[in-house]
Formats: sequence, C-alpha cells, structure tokens
Amino acid sequence: MSRIGLPPHYFSREDESPDENFYQDPRFTTHIDDATISEITKYYRETLLPSDRLLDLMSSWISHLPNEVGFRQVSGLGMNRKEMDLNPRLNDSIVQNLNTTPSLPYADHSYDVVMIAVSIQYLTKPYEVFSEIARVLAPGGRCIVVMSHRVFPTKTIYAFLNLAPAERCELVSNYMEETGQIIEIDILDRSPRHADPLWLVVGRKTK
Ligand SMILES: C[S@@+](CC[C@H](N)C(=O)[O-])C[C@H]1O[C@@H](n2cnc3c(N)ncnc32)[C@H](O)[C@@H]1O
Repeated sequence: MSRIGLPPHYFSREDESPDENFYQDPRFTTHIDDATISEITKYYRETLLPSDRLLDLMSSWISHLPNEVGFRQVSGLGMNRKEMDLNPRLNDSIVQNLNTTPSLPYADHSYDVVMIAVSIQYLTKPYEVFSEIARVLAPGGRCIVVMSHRVFPTKTIYAFLNLAPAERCELVSNYMEETGQIIEIDILDRSPRHADPLWLVVGRKTK
C-alpha cells in the first residue's frame, strides 16, 4: 500500500516505456483552455512577488506567469530541451526525468516558490519528488500544484485516471503532508465558467 492507502499499481501507468521517448519531440501547444490559463496567471499575479525565486517543475515553453512582472529568478526542469529554450521566462533550465531521477539538482532552501502546472499526474515517484521540493524550498516558501482534467492517458498514473477530482486534490495534499515540512495546505477551486476546470493545491514550508 502507498502512504495514503492506495494500492501500489495506482502509481504506475499503461506506458512504462522511457519518458524520454514520449517527450522527445517538442509540443508547442497549450494543454488547457485560454480562460483556464488566464485564471492560473491571475492566481500567480495575486500571490507571487517580484523578489521570489521560482522553480517551474515539469516545465515546457510556457510558464503562465504574468508578463508584466519580472521575478528574481525562474528556473525550469522538464523533459524537452527545445521547449524550455523557447520559454521566455526561464533564466536557466535542466532536462531531467523525475521518474528515474527524483532528486532535484538544486541547493537546499534555494527557491521561494516551486510550481508544477498541469503535470503532476505524470509523476510515478511523487513522494520522493515532494521530499526534494521541501528540501529546496526556503523556510516559509510555497509549493503550488496546478491541476486540470486533460491528460496524456497512457502516461498518467492510474490514481489520476481512477480517482475523482476531489480525491486527486486530497492525494496531492497528501504528497505535501508526507514531507513533514509542508503545512497550511489549501485546496482551491478556481475553475472558470465554460472552460477546463482549475484546481490548485497550495502548501507552505515551515519556517
Ligand atoms: C502537459 S505538459 C505541461 C507543461 C507546462 N508545465 C504547462 O503548464 O504547460 C507536461 C510536462 O511535464 C513534463 N514531464 C512529463 N514527464 C516528466 C518526467 N518524467 N520528468 C520531468 N518532467 C516531466 C514534460 O516535460 C511536459 O513539459
């Protein structure tokens, strides 16, 4: 059983071939409706500070950050070099498969915010990755997980295919709780009307 009591196969997926193959070719598309992307940007505008050092995990060519705000640092980690090279917000980027290497190549306490946008469903070792997120977050820093409902099904872990939206949010909340360092976890529904839904799970690292 996993830490939340789910069977181990819930953390596997139909396509267990190397993720490097699946993400080899860049995809310069958006994965959710424009109104939903606008709502993500709005949330970031409300909650991020220009002085923040941001880590965009599972990054691509778009980070949804408000255009008018410059941030102290924006780092990206994802699977495709071409996508991240064309992301105008990234100051630095690393290609790394978190399902084979869940440790993060960053120093302790080096980010104020770690975000994962519309990608959490692809992590097969989420508890290891979240332990690393807690390590790289500065005291009082925040983790923001952005979720919707569109997925690449064959690469999505069964938990995210089988659980209802509220249960998926609880699962992500559990990823944070189990670090023992991420607290004050909120689940927010910011779904726009007539567009892809938007759920946020947000936690704060202890001071
Ligand atoms: C649906 S895209 C979302 C990209 C971006 N975060 C956004 O909001 O548009 C999924 C992203 O997850 C990343 N990803 C998938 N599997 C991964 C893995 N095993 N390790 C690291 N990143 C992964 C891919 O590089 C891809 O950029």
